[in-house]
Amino acid sequence: MTTHAIPHSVPRTNRQTLLVCFLAALAGLLFGLDMGVIAGALPFLAQEFGLSSHQQEMVVSVMMVGAALGALCSGPMCTRIGRKKTLLIGAALFVAGSVGCAFAPDLQTLIVSRFLLGAAVGVASFVAPLYLSEIAPEHIRGSMISMYQLMITIGILVAFLSDTAFSQSGNWRWMLGIITFPALVLFAGVLTLPESPRWLMMKNKHALAQKVLLLLRSSEREAHTELDAIRESVKVSQRGWQLFRASSHFRRSTCLGVLLQFMQQFTGMTVIMYYAPKIFAIAGFASTQQQMWGTVIAGLTNVLATFIAIGLVDRWGRKPILKLGFSVMAICMALLGYMFFIGITSPVQQYTAVILLLIFITGFAMSAGPLIWVLCSEIQPLAGRDFGVTCSTMANWIANTIIGATFLTLIDSVGSAGTFWLYAALNVLCIILTLLFVPETKNISLENIEKNLMAGLPLRSIGSSLY
Ligand code: BGC
Repeated sequence: MTTHAIPHSVPRTNRQTLLVCFLAALAGLLFGLDMGVIAGALPFLAQEFGLSSHQQEMVVSVMMVGAALGALCSGPMCTRIGRKKTLLIGAALFVAGSVGCAFAPDLQTLIVSRFLLGAAVGVASFVAPLYLSEIAPEHIRGSMISMYQLMITIGILVAFLSDTAFSQSGNWRWMLGIITFPALVLFAGVLTLPESPRWLMMKNKHALAQKVLLLLRSSEREAHTELDAIRESVKVSQRGWQLFRASSHFRRSTCLGVLLQFMQQFTGMTVIMYYAPKIFAIAGFASTQQQMWGTVIAGLTNVLATFIAIGLVDRWGRKPILKLGFSVMAICMALLGYMFFIGITSPVQQYTAVILLLIFITGFAMSAGPLIWVLCSEIQPLAGRDFGVTCSTMANWIANTIIGATFLTLIDSVGSAGTFWLYAALNVLCIILTLLFVPETKNISLENIEKNLMAGLPLRSIGSSLY
């Protein structure tokens, strides 16, 4: 038998990069697991603790409150103690929150544990992409963002599968507790990571930064060139708040980031992820098994359709895909609303509703899911990037909290049809906002986007090469 030794020519960068990808993916996976798991656990939890609609919303949405706070604290924490330690704190919070949920004796403990998990998700959603962008070589930096979203969707799917596996027994404690294991793997993995060279430079630890880069890059020259570039960017990168106060152009790009994240959440996708079994129940699928399998199919569609975005984003561009995605989502929400309005009685109607839901999910996963994260990282000028991305990441969680906390109340007050029509209208609004404000950033360097922004071009034109 011949053995194939790994050739020595595999550059160290590749191995290190693989490790970095894996760890970032793991943080995304945990993000997705924690978002997805509650959909399946909620009905059993509600039964065991006798929860009202409002209390159920609290269990769902307290996580997002934690995430908003986690994202807010991550910026200063990252600056003070570094990326690696912040990510470690995130991983520890994932462990603590999962264990707390699994053993929660009452609603209060459950709410506190979900808050801790939220803080972990908030920290992970800020630090992991930031760490990646600072440590990954330039040629793979762009694809990381869509891959990160892909891992979120895989996390959601795995959570749905685990929910389904445990739904026979109704064991919600295992559904929530099982996440402890990947969280422990994340914690152990982060321990092995090097600190970000950019942060080391910010702290004047030049020798250490150099050591990390020499380890991560394939040649000494490459490491030194990057070190010089970091030195330059570090000079300007700490001016976020001052820049926000001084420059109306930076205020515009910060507002655009916040708006984009609100648009992503107001599509209604997140409520489908949180309340999928409930939506299948409204569509007439009475048994828990049917609802759980429907939820798994929804999660799988989400994963698969994300590949469409990965394949198209650099060919079609961001704006056409977003317009298409929002249109598909608006139409599906409007039709679903209509079906709920006339009443879903026959199996044909039930399956039509499921197909509409799956097309809606495809519309999101191929557009707003990954592209909003991509755009948010592209539109900020270097000097205010950390600040701008903190604001948009927080906005994601604030919007997420609002929709998570209002969905069941909306259904109770305006009915299923009214709720879905409202989301249809919000998607139409997203099309209009895309036309008015969203730039096309395909094939243009970040430096040119920054120049256009700071020269005062309208937001929708900052991606043009006119300047
Ligand atoms: C969003 C989440 C959403 C998920 C679905 C993420 O990009 O931020 O709110 O539930 O995608 O895949």
